[in-house]
Amino acid sequence: MKPTLVASLTLCALSSLIIGAAAQDAPVDLVKVGAKTYDTNCAPCHGDKLVSSGIAFDLKRLREDERPRFDNSVTNGKNAMPSWRGIIKEKDLDALWAYIRANAYP
Ligand code: HEC
Repeated sequence: MKPTLVASLTLCALSSLIIGAAAQDAPVDLVKVGAKTYDTNCAPCHGDKLVSSGIAFDLKRLREDERPRFDNSVTNGKNAMPSWRGIIKEKDLDALWAYIRANAYP
């Protein structure tokens, strides 16, 4: 093998090691974060693991294009549903949405 080839192969291996390390530091899985936030704040009314008991809207019914509706209802509240303004932060909304979408009806 030519020395330059060895060098570039070594570099290649090194950079994939670095990328591998970076992947571990990547943002924690949004869906998992959303599940936690949901369990704490939403499950009492919307049901354990998104399984609606019928007392509140079934969140699995939200369609992919209803993110604006979701943001609006959660931020401002709706009828018996309290407003989460200042409690649920923007990035928590992203996580909650990811969790809901991951479990939505097909
Ligand atoms: C105190 C009970 C309660 C809690 C806690 C609660 N909700 Fe609700 N939620 C409701 C009720 C009741 C409705 C139905 C409102 C209606 O349409 O009259 C609702 C409706 C909704 C809707 C649909 C509103 C629409 O556009 O029709 C969304 C989205 C929603 N909730 C998200 C959440 C999320 C996310 C959380 C946790 C951060 C949460 N809710 C926590 C009671 C609750």
